[in-house]
Amino acid sequence: MNGSSNVLVLGVTGQVGKRVATNLKRKKATLSVGSRRKANLKELADQFGASRFIDLDDPRTFDEALNNVTSIFLITGYTVDMLVQSKSLIDAAKRNGVTHIVHLGAFTREHDSYATVFAWHQMIEAYLRDSGIAWTNLHPNMFMQNFLSVWSIKGGLYSAYTSKAIGFTALEDVAEAAAVILMEGPEKHSGMDYWFSVEALTPHQVAETLTAVTGRKFTAAVHHAEGFQNDAAQPGSAFEPAYAKGGLELFRQVEDGRMAYVGSVKDDTKKILGREPLLLSEWAKLHASELLEIAGG
Ligand SMILES: NC(=O)c1ccc[n+]([C@@H]2O[C@H](COP(=O)([O-])OP(=O)(O)OC[C@H]3O[C@@H](n4cnc5c(N)ncnc54)[C@H](OP(=O)(O)O)[C@@H]3O)[C@@H](O)[C@H]2O)c1
Repeated sequence: MNGSSNVLVLGVTGQVGKRVATNLKRKKATLSVGSRRKANLKELADQFGASRFIDLDDPRTFDEALNNVTSIFLITGYTVDMLVQSKSLIDAAKRNGVTHIVHLGAFTREHDSYATVFAWHQMIEAYLRDSGIAWTNLHPNMFMQNFLSVWSIKGGLYSAYTSKAIGFTALEDVAEAAAVILMEGPEKHSGMDYWFSVEALTPHQVAETLTAVTGRKFTAAVHHAEGFQNDAAQPGSAFEPAYAKGGLELFRQVEDGRMAYVGSVKDDTKKILGREPLLLSEWAKLHASELLEIAGG
């Protein structure tokens, strides 16, 4: 990492950003973390070294937040607002001399990604590529961490919304790769797309793997894609309605074959980190006690 680099990591109160910032800190990068939660800024500064106030819904906060920042880890939440948030942040980054943006997108493929969320990420990536700022786009498939979400494996029943295979990635790999890319900078990673999908599994193969690792019986329940919209609206869910509709479209298009490629393996972890990515069985071993706790008795 060049001595004058200063990375701003967004989304650090969320699951990906927090891991990216933790990896950067462990690797002794110069970083600050951005949050819209004013009350948390001191605690975040204590945790990561420096924090800055930034509200992605209020571009008036961007110029001050980007002062002396050289690179950004751009992540947005489960909302269609990602479009305007990312556009206005890229505009501000250009104005403020940011030299590298690493964007967290989805497992998209040029002519096959028509589920809304996937298309939104592709639109952001096109805008970023056109910005003149050096860019790196990350394309993770389904996070293994989704198994730890509120509805996913309650009662040992794994709720899936397509019977077809889906590709998975562990956030441990995506976040460490993002940190290394930010540290190695645009000299090595400008203009690069990286994919994260280490293993493609049907719902029954997921349940079998979780059972084998934890010793507790897991069973897969395959629901209609429409069920996702309802389940994603449960209390504690991170999805806003337009995003949940995007999830429904994704599962529908995987099921009918239009987005069958989502069930494929394509993984650049080793290229970036020089080590193998985590398989679901290895990830489940690391998270066995959380899986058992969520699954319940
Ligand atoms: N789940 C999957 O399987 C999957 C797969 C591929 C890609 N993705 C992509 O991953 C991304 C979500 O990542 P995640 O799971 O880490 O999300 P997350 O846990 O919900 O975290 C979202 C982060 O964004 C912050 N944020 C939201 N609105 C903000 C605003 N207006 N200003 C500043 N910060 C704001 C949140 O901060 P607050 O604490 O202030 O809300 C939080 O830190 C999405 O783009 C999604 O498309 C997900």
